[in-house]
Amino acid sequence: MTTSQQFSWNRLQQQAEGLLSVSSDRISNAANLSALIYQSLNDVSWVGFYFLHGETLRLGPFQGKPACVSIEMGKGVCGTAAASGKTIRVADVEAFDGHIACDAQARSELVVPLFLRGELLGVLDVDSTLHDRFSEDDEAGFDALARVYLSSID
Ligand code: SME
Repeated sequence: MTTSQQFSWNRLQQQAEGLLSVSSDRISNAANLSALIYQSLNDVSWVGFYFLHGETLRLGPFQGKPACVSIEMGKGVCGTAAASGKTIRVADVEAFDGHIACDAQARSELVVPLFLRGELLGVLDVDSTLHDRFSEDDEAGFDALARVYLSSID
């Protein structure tokens, strides 16, 4: 890979800002952001959104294999990130107590909780079939993309 082709979080963030600037619809923008991430990052097997309905996270737009439709608050990596309000980066999903295996091949995962005007809207979830796929830089990158998404929607 040459330097010009190296992955840049800054560039992906700019692309996301452009892509999401044409709409403020939360479903359209979740769909397009999932597609942009899936097309831009290596070794991402699944990326998508879960939106909170009552006490349940319900599957939203995503890219990858079909996934679990609903996750209770506090359950799995998604429900734990939603309940704690903190981004969770899991190097080895088998070592995470309560991990929900939508895809038996998944090995590492990163989940960013989404707060819109102080209210929990849902989570952005990213999976990889590689062990320890997501670095601290990736965590900061996904946090930034989540902010781009949240400032784009109504
Ligand atoms: N692994 C997640 C479930 C969602 S899928 O990865 C798409 C979890 O433990 O919450």
